Amino acid sequence: MFFTTKTLHRCLCRGYRTLQPTIKDQLSSTPIGSILEAKGFVKSIRNSKNVSFLDITDGTTSKNINVVLLGKEQPKFQIGQSIAIKGEWNMSKSGSSQEFELKYNSKNSDHSYQIIGTVPEDYPLQKKATSMSFLRTLPSLKHRTSTISSFYRLRSFLETSMMEFFNSQDFTKVYPPLITSSDCEGAGETFKISKCEDFFEKQAYLTVSTQLHLESLALALNRVWSLSPCFRAENSKTSRHLCEFWMLEAEICYLDDLEPLLDFTESMVKFATKKVVENYKDEYLNGVYIDKEVVESRWNSILDKEWQRMTYNEAIQLINEKGVDSLKFGDSLSLDHERFLASHGPIFITDYPKSMKPFYMLNSKDYSPEKSTVACFDLLLPEFGELVGGSLREHDYDSLVNSMKKHQMSIEEMKWYLDLRKNGTIPHGGFGMGWERFINYLSGHDNVRDIAPFPRAPSLCNA
Ligand code: 4AD
Repeated sequence: MFFTTKTLHRCLCRGYRTLQPTIKDQLSSTPIGSILEAKGFVKSIRNSKNVSFLDITDGTTSKNINVVLLGKEQPKFQIGQSIAIKGEWNMSKSGSSQEFELKYNSKNSDHSYQIIGTVPEDYPLQKKATSMSFLRTLPSLKHRTSTISSFYRLRSFLETSMMEFFNSQDFTKVYPPLITSSDCEGAGETFKISKCEDFFEKQAYLTVSTQLHLESLALALNRVWSLSPCFRAENSKTSRHLCEFWMLEAEICYLDDLEPLLDFTESMVKFATKKVVENYKDEYLNGVYIDKEVVESRWNSILDKEWQRMTYNEAIQLINEKGVDSLKFGDSLSLDHERFLASHGPIFITDYPKSMKPFYMLNSKDYSPEKSTVACFDLLLPEFGELVGGSLREHDYDSLVNSMKKHQMSIEEMKWYLDLRKNGTIPHGGFGMGWERFINYLSGHDNVRDIAPFPRAPSLCNA
């Protein structure tokens, strides 16, 4: 018999399955004619004279189990109930949208059902289409909807793909702290931890980026990555900002040029996107009520061609030439500018003015004191804006101390970080990618608040 690697892996893992089968498992491996007990929520009900149909979902896949209830004395179910139902597993009639169905017949003594959890009459997730803004008012129930649960499964799939990608490139996944004594980005957007002066005997914060700790770990392990929560007290009430979000960060040693870092970032995003297209497309598209053309056009925009690269200077020149705006060196790029720059596909904008960026960035290769820039980049996506920010890091002790002094930072507080530059320093660099933003883009959706299960934003912290 011929096995694909995926099937083989599933077979090997099957030996370790100790829990009851899920609907995902049942759909892929139940022999026709056998008795099957499905457990899940009732998602929809259609009644006709002598037969009724139920769709049951348990969240493990976007696919449902279709149940056919036969006979005059049919049990009565309600949408939203959690149930267990036992019947015979059959091929569906030709013309049916589903391949298989579970036939329940009250006259058959092998068949049975149980209502595990009841619902009130006004259970809010009825079959009719619901808007995202309505779902946001249901912080505990919205996760059961087809579209939102598909976002979560896509997110989980992408994390596995990233694990595969980084493993293939000799990275070690590391676990930096979330409580820190430093403000990595120096933007004053940290959440301060109360009572910590008594506890830690100093001020401590929730991390805005784990980069500084990753640098320390990279200088031991060569290549490291992490996927961790970050917290920013940013008063941005947009569809792209959260106060608590996850950032995928990587830090790489022996990098003294920006180009390999851009190559690496591009290949990482392309790898994960290709994985979705090749291994997850049907599962994802089956579940979401989102324009499928939008979803696929986003995937294609990532995969279709090599991404453009442009310096900040070239970018403001283009913006001025095309009459989009009138910018001078040192002006920041707005979302509209970013969308204009990425109108033909993903684009890296590199070498921003030093004055706009944090203390840790290395000067650009063609640094000039008149228009001083740093070796950094933002990755911009079409109609979306920034997804990734990264840079080469200043690895020289004296230059870093100078930069910190200019940013009025405490050298004493940052001794642990500076020590890296005194003890076998290595040119290095890395980046951070907004994880919810990435999922948002690939999902075809347009709001990170629906990608985070319990979004935290200004005036939003319910549940
Ligand atoms: O550009 P940022 O601020 O870069 C850093 O924090 C670096 N220290 C990362 C590094 O080099 N290791 O943030 C990186 C990315 C952004 O491009 C954006 O996608 C995401 O993090 N991000 C947010 N996502 C959601 N909500 C917010 N408030 C975000 N702020 C940044």
